[in-house]
Amino acid sequence: MSDRAIIGLWPENASGGYEDSNQLNRKESDDMNLKDKVAIVTGAGQGIGEAIALRLAEEGANLVLVDINGEALEQVAEQVTGIGSKVCFVTCNVTKKSDVENVIQQGVKAFGRIDILVNNAGVIRDALLLNMTEEEFDIVIAVNLKGPFLFMQAAAKIMKDQGGGKIINISSITAKVGNFGQINYTAAKGGMNAMSKTAARELAKYNITVNVVMPGFIDTKMTQSLPDNFRESKLKEIPLGRAGQPRDIANAVAFLASEQAGYVTGHVMEVTGGRFM
Ligand SMILES: NC(=O)c1ccc[n+]([C@@H]2O[C@H](COP(=O)([O-])OP(=O)(O)OC[C@H]3O[C@@H](n4cnc5c(N)ncnc54)[C@H](O)[C@@H]3O)[C@@H](O)[C@H]2O)c1
Repeated sequence: MSDRAIIGLWPENASGGYEDSNQLNRKESDDMNLKDKVAIVTGAGQGIGEAIALRLAEEGANLVLVDINGEALEQVAEQVTGIGSKVCFVTCNVTKKSDVENVIQQGVKAFGRIDILVNNAGVIRDALLLNMTEEEFDIVIAVNLKGPFLFMQAAAKIMKDQGGGKIINISSITAKVGNFGQINYTAAKGGMNAMSKTAARELAKYNITVNVVMPGFIDTKMTQSLPDNFRESKLKEIPLGRAGQPRDIANAVAFLASEQAGYVTGHVMEVTGGRFM
């Protein structure tokens, strides 16, 4: 377990809510897709992970939020409780087995079950093949591939015993087409796609589905740091004519996490605005 682990369970003194009430309102009806389900979201401190956490909360799920950045988790936890869900947040380095097992333990202690796992945490360390260091290769494989393996293994044991579950892994469209400067990242995401299909085959008999979402070019801190001319050239490749928003990915995850996707497993869903179709 990381030395800096922050563990919280709200509501206790949870204050505040999410201000944009037009966007983030829990449905009024009783047919919320994920009412009282418990979802782990890794990399939930910002970007796509934050959007997924809020989206699942809108559908009625309680959340176990995971990130290496504990302070970021606290502000997302506040938003989740503002929507009306219970939240447990745990700092964790997804590459460390002891950290991952601690998350599962804290989640089960807080809520008694784990229904949904979203492996979203990811990093990039870009360099051309001829220049990439071993460290740059190893860290990207560790966070983007080994972390999801550790989480799937630990969560599936709980899901098996409770009679089912839904696992959703966040990959990247670059796994399909490759990308300059990302030999480490494309290897990790391609590995994730293949690993998910194996897991889907092995876990189907326990009523656990495993699916992948492959985002295209999504507006987050990861892509906002790219040079303007590079961003513009990428946008021109998108038939729907805009960058994706984190919520576009979150909507796909909410579907795959729901019973409506009960007969979908081993699927790799592209959410790219049509890029590389
Ligand atoms: N933004 C895009 O255009 C895009 C495109 C395709 C795929 N993706 C994938 O979507 C996922 C989210 O991307 P994003 O743009 O929101 O990224 P981001 O950098 O904004 O957020 C990633 C989060 O993961 C956390 N994290 C990093 N290393 C960690 C570790 N070792 N343990 C725990 N948490 C860790 C970070 O603290 C951060 O909160 C990633 O897997 C990424 O590869 C993003």
